[in-house]
Amino acid sequence: MTPAFEHIPVLYEETLRALNPLPGQVFLDMTLGGGGHTEGLLKATAPEGRVLATDRDARAIRAASERLAEFEARLEVRQVCFAEAAHWIEPGSCDGVLMDLGISSPQVDHAERGFSFIKDGPLDMRMSQGEGMSAADVVNQWGEEELVRVFRQLGEEPRSGRVAQAIVRQRVVSSFETTLQLARCVEGALGGRAGKHHPATRVFQALRMVVNDELGQLEKGLVSAWKVLRCGGKLATITFHSLEARMVKRFAQFWGADYEAGDAADTPALRRPRRPVMRWYPRKSIKASRQEVLRNPRARSAQLRVMEKIEDLPEGREWAWRGDS
Ligand SMILES: C[S@@+](CC[C@H](N)C(=O)[O-])C[C@H]1O[C@@H](n2cnc3c(N)ncnc32)[C@H](O)[C@@H]1O
Repeated sequence: MTPAFEHIPVLYEETLRALNPLPGQVFLDMTLGGGGHTEGLLKATAPEGRVLATDRDARAIRAASERLAEFEARLEVRQVCFAEAAHWIEPGSCDGVLMDLGISSPQVDHAERGFSFIKDGPLDMRMSQGEGMSAADVVNQWGEEELVRVFRQLGEEPRSGRVAQAIVRQRVVSSFETTLQLARCVEGALGGRAGKHHPATRVFQALRMVVNDELGQLEKGLVSAWKVLRCGGKLATITFHSLEARMVKRFAQFWGADYEAGDAADTPALRRPRRPVMRWYPRKSIKASRQEVLRNPRARSAQLRVMEKIEDLPEGREWAWRGDS
């Protein structure tokens, strides 16, 4: 029997309040998942508003389309990744956009997806099943130094060297095929559970992020979202860890400033004034209440940030906020 596809939407009320969907409006939900936020947007925009919803995961698309079948006339669903989300949507046509990042509960809970270090499954972790390299390809084929870099940069694992060394030693004996094989290897390298987190938490996060190019996708997704938003429309992002949050803040701080830095050190005398392209709304991130975290521990690390679009990103300078152009 196929396991149920259930995901409790995080910061549901807060997100809807911030996006403020009104009857007749058009929204893009770039992270359909189980369809919880999409359903809220569909209800609030009734009777004639529309919701466009995307996800790279075919199973999420199928399950949410079935669940939301009653809204079929007002819901358009596509299986695309963030980088492609703007390709089929008219620029400036959406009143609001949502990016509820990370993975859904079924992706972690269904062992065969290979995200879990608690339940055994094939070491896969691809959100778009079957596309690109799997987590097993990474741990079996990448060099020790590359593994150290990935675990340090994407997992913020302080003992990356020790884990990478244990993996490289182990795979000479037999290659990694399942999630528990890897979890036990990491546990062996780092020792048992210290505190409330499993020792493999950071390594699994790093692998998930590299397999799905999560930061690269987020970077492109922010620019896509900005393109399809109308001026005065809002972009809401929900992040679950510091690397995602940092990227959203960098985007917003760069485009929210009323000047552009004249040099790498941002010397005040060299700043060039310009009109801001976005406005924070509100300025501080919104976190889940204690009651929500008790009901849904996944909400613990969630941070909602909302930006209002003032203008399009200047043509040809869409990537200036990354600091490398
Ligand atoms: C946290 S879940 C969304 C849950 C949803 N808001 C709900 O209420 O059920 C995140 C979803 O985003 C999708 N996703 C993550 N990165 C993506 C990307 N780069 N492109 C498209 N979809 C992505 C995942 O497949 C997952 O289904």
